[in-house]
Amino acid sequence: MIVAPSLLSADFANLEKDIKMINESDADWFHLDVMDGSFVPNISFGFPVIKAVKKHATKPLDVHLMIVNPDQYIKEFKESGAAIISVHIEACNHLHRTIQLIKSVGSKAGVAINPHTPIAMLKEIIADIDLVCLMSVNPGFGGQKFIENTYSKIVELRTLIEQRNSKAQIEIDGGVDLQNASKLAAHGADIFVAGEYCFFIG
Ligand code: DX5
Ligand code: ZN
Repeated sequence: MIVAPSLLSADFANLEKDIKMINESDADWFHLDVMDGSFVPNISFGFPVIKAVKKHATKPLDVHLMIVNPDQYIKEFKESGAAIISVHIEACNHLHRTIQLIKSVGSKAGVAINPHTPIAMLKEIIADIDLVCLMSVNPGFGGQKFIENTYSKIVELRTLIEQRNSKAQIEIDGGVDLQNASKLAAHGADIFVAGEYCFFIG
């Protein structure tokens, strides 16, 4: 089980303090949400922040790109410190090419899918990727309500992963807390992203 706190809910005026807290905690990765105001109705942060986080983080950076045309920035995300780069299936016209590009720069490759996107869309790419980021809220904001339909999508995804002999891990992103985490794990989730819960509640 991997826990990845989302810095979206961190204190941006005092990031170093929150990074230190995660370094010293049992959490495994840093989850960084990059939003462009086009793919999602919100803007978060970009390279300077990721580079600053990288300077202090002692754990891998899991970068979740909620942006259109990610290809043109993959190299710079890698150079900024991304160990894992996930792109949205809904934002990529040539997903296979994008995945190859992420791998060629030396990062692990993930594909994120929105709540409305069927698991079947991953069929031809699942064997090539390291991670599926299953969105359990509509991307764009922290602190939203978990979508219950996620459980059945995890089961369907687990079946697809086995059918295709894929090594992909299942990451759940949005509305994750201590209440639903064990049920998510029981359904087959591997990685748990939590923003609000880590910084405001937990
Ligand atoms: C939503 C982001 C999430 C978000 C999770 O667009 O991808 O990573 O920050 O935050 P919580 O846990 O607060 O839903
Ligand atoms: Zn995210």
